[in-house]
Amino acid sequence: MVVRERTTRVDLAVELCGLQLHTPLIPASGTLAKEALGEVEGVYGAMLPKTTTPRPRAGNPPPRIAETPAGMVNSIGLQNPGVEQFLKDLDAFDVGVPLFISVAGDTVDEFVALCERISSDERISGIELNLSCPNVEHGGLTFCAGPASVEEVVAACRAVVREKPISAKLTNEGAVENARAAEAAGADALTVINTVPALTIDARARKVLVRGGLSGPAIKPIALRAVYEVSRAVNVPILGSGGVASGQDVAEFMLAGATAVQIGTTSFVREPHTILEEFAGFLRDTGMSAAELIGALR
Ligand SMILES: Cc1cc2nc3c(=O)[nH]c(=O)nc-3n(C[C@H](O)[C@H](O)[C@H](O)COP(=O)(O)O)c2cc1C
Repeated sequence: MVVRERTTRVDLAVELCGLQLHTPLIPASGTLAKEALGEVEGVYGAMLPKTTTPRPRAGNPPPRIAETPAGMVNSIGLQNPGVEQFLKDLDAFDVGVPLFISVAGDTVDEFVALCERISSDERISGIELNLSCPNVEHGGLTFCAGPASVEEVVAACRAVVREKPISAKLTNEGAVENARAAEAAGADALTVINTVPALTIDARARKVLVRGGLSGPAIKPIALRAVYEVSRAVNVPILGSGGVASGQDVAEFMLAGATAVQIGTTSFVREPHTILEEFAGFLRDTGMSAAELIGALR
């Protein structure tokens, strides 16, 4: 009697904006240090370092992180060495998979200058526009404050980035309208969502502890809904982000409509390898490939 062995090979590959990703997992910007790259070999289908800005930023004063039920609030404040130093150190992230770069500026012109500076670099496959940062020309409201502002910054970046994909990273607030605006302005993809505005208080000291963005499993259902709704409103691929903590979560985001899924806060407490193995196990059990999962809700 021949016993058929269970097929162990699963097809994890997805295509994102013409790029072949050997897995749909991508580190969420700001959550993978270059020192940890050795530990995640083979896990990620694309790389995405922390947001870079035109000049070095020291970030916000401490405390900048507070643990919360099922998540954390951070107000790192885009601490980074500035784009010139960033590019000098970039080889560490050039590990043989497509490399996306996250950029943020204080003004539309700064976004454009950053895009011009990095788009000719052959190591870089694509750009993620971090639109959650304040637009100093509009009273400090973020670039995600409304569709007009999203359209303006995405169109201006599109005009100077002709050959590389651009993903606009959106907040949960206004996600659908902003997604339509970004698509109309020429975005090739959308990253949905960034952290959710939040606050922690030290009651005994009677002071605010951290005023920043909530991430981790606490925001997963919010992010999942945003991905689901945005995917029904636009025709560009979505990079899901927000609270992914397991391989099953990856599957849920892809079923909701994501083509790729970013792993952020969870990577501080769980091995990204484990999440990939769980996801592969899900595909094995269901007999589906990763690509077949995308938007495949019944
Ligand atoms: C410590 C920390 C730093 C972050 N830095 C950035 C950043 O530089 N740029 C950015 O676009 N998002 C940044 N984020 C947001 C994440 O990329 C991600 O969108 C968000 O945390 C939601 O995903 P998660 O729940 O899986 O962490 C940061 C999040 C954390 C927790």
